Amino acid sequence: MHKKKYFSSQSLKDLNTFAIDVTAKKIIFVKTIQSLIDISKICQLSNIPYIILGEGSNVLFLENYVGVVIINRIKGIKIVEKKNFWLLHVFSGEKWHNLVKLTLNLGILGLENLALIPGCIGSAAIQNIGAYGLEFKDVCQYVDILSLRDNTIKRIYKNSCKFSYRNSIFKDQYKNEHAVIRVGMKLSKKWRPIVFSSLENYITLINITAYKIFNIICKIRKKKLPDPKKIGNAGSFFKNPLIKKKKAQKLINLYKVPNYPQKNGLVKISAAWLIENYKFKHLQIGDAAIHKKQKLILINKKNATAQEIIKLAKIIHKCILKKFNILLEPEVDLIGASGKIKASKIFKLNSKLKVI
Ligand code: FAD
Ligand code: EPU
Repeated sequence: MHKKKYFSSQSLKDLNTFAIDVTAKKIIFVKTIQSLIDISKICQLSNIPYIILGEGSNVLFLENYVGVVIINRIKGIKIVEKKNFWLLHVFSGEKWHNLVKLTLNLGILGLENLALIPGCIGSAAIQNIGAYGLEFKDVCQYVDILSLRDNTIKRIYKNSCKFSYRNSIFKDQYKNEHAVIRVGMKLSKKWRPIVFSSLENYITLINITAYKIFNIICKIRKKKLPDPKKIGNAGSFFKNPLIKKKKAQKLINLYKVPNYPQKNGLVKISAAWLIENYKFKHLQIGDAAIHKKQKLILINKKNATAQEIIKLAKIIHKCILKKFNILLEPEVDLIGASGKIKASKIFKLNSKLKVI
């Protein structure tokens, strides 16, 4: 008997940068807010799960998705010049790196440290993307969200976005039935370079320009990070752990681990260093492996399954806990058959750890 057409599924392999070979019941690209509203409405009325994606560069699909994957391609950029600054109003389906290039080409400076980060504008806000001493929150003015329950649009100003390291209110209070549709950014005309410690070896402050920073960061990233078009990955698999000063001091005394004291008193520890210094020997599960040039990145060498990636991540998680007494928390969003899965369902994330 022939299967009816509406039972066939569509491949997500090219729509997630991990290149996991899974399917969705339906994949729909949206270019307008109205079509996003219409599709989500149909899904709600028919009780079909749905999820919004940008470029799929921060997700790991654990299995076939039984609902509709909505690919956000709502585009538009408006730039307004004020006396001392520029205002950017950007729809959420624009690509982040394209905005970085466009602004620099127009002589609008300030996004250069966030060059070459994959993904869309909407996810940049949700994730509060960061690199080389700059985070999205530092340039954000507001984020517009659409409630897919009542189709109202709400503007959340920066101070109410609860931005923190790879986190925001959009991963918490507004995580369900809300879509980020537009963001506002403010870039000062008084440009100041941000030269993060890991850039110091590459840059001299004499005659420094935003374009030099952009070029150096692109060069470093191309050298260190796997190109998702060639090797499946979703950037850092785990976050850098934030731990208390006392515990950090003990770790630093014991291992000289790279560390970055934070304004809130906590200390950020380099997870890549912890993984590097565990000295895993040729650890590979099927086609899932650790990227040689950046140990925080897990890669899909060819045909890895999500289960292989998870098995590898769990081994790393367990070993880092055992050796350094640190619980790593995934940065990547885990997506199950009908929606997002809490990382704590798969990884142990809380325990009363003794200070080593
Ligand atoms: P997706 O993976 O498509 O989505 C991420 C999450 O947001 C999902 O849960 C999705 O459901 C949700 N979502 C997406 N769009 C919307 C929307 N409009 N409304 C509501 N929910 C939405 N990140 C950094 O911070 N710094 C880096 O330096 C960095 N480097 C990277 C390098 C590589 C090679 C790769 C592959 C990734 C890197 N990342 C980095 C991670 C990733 O690029 C960012 O997290 C990025 O913001 C994800 O964007 P995306 O559009 O691909 O999000
Ligand atoms: N290191 C190692 N081994 C490695 C890589 C790094 O020991 O394989 C040590 C080095 O001492 C290095 C330090 O770790 O100086 C920091 O490494 P790196 O500059 O590569 O940064 P990271 O902390 O590993 C974070 C972000 C990246 C972002 C870079 C650049 C997280 C989880 N990751 O990585 O973001 O691009 O800083 O600022 O915060 C992402 O979020 O997906 C991502 C790639």
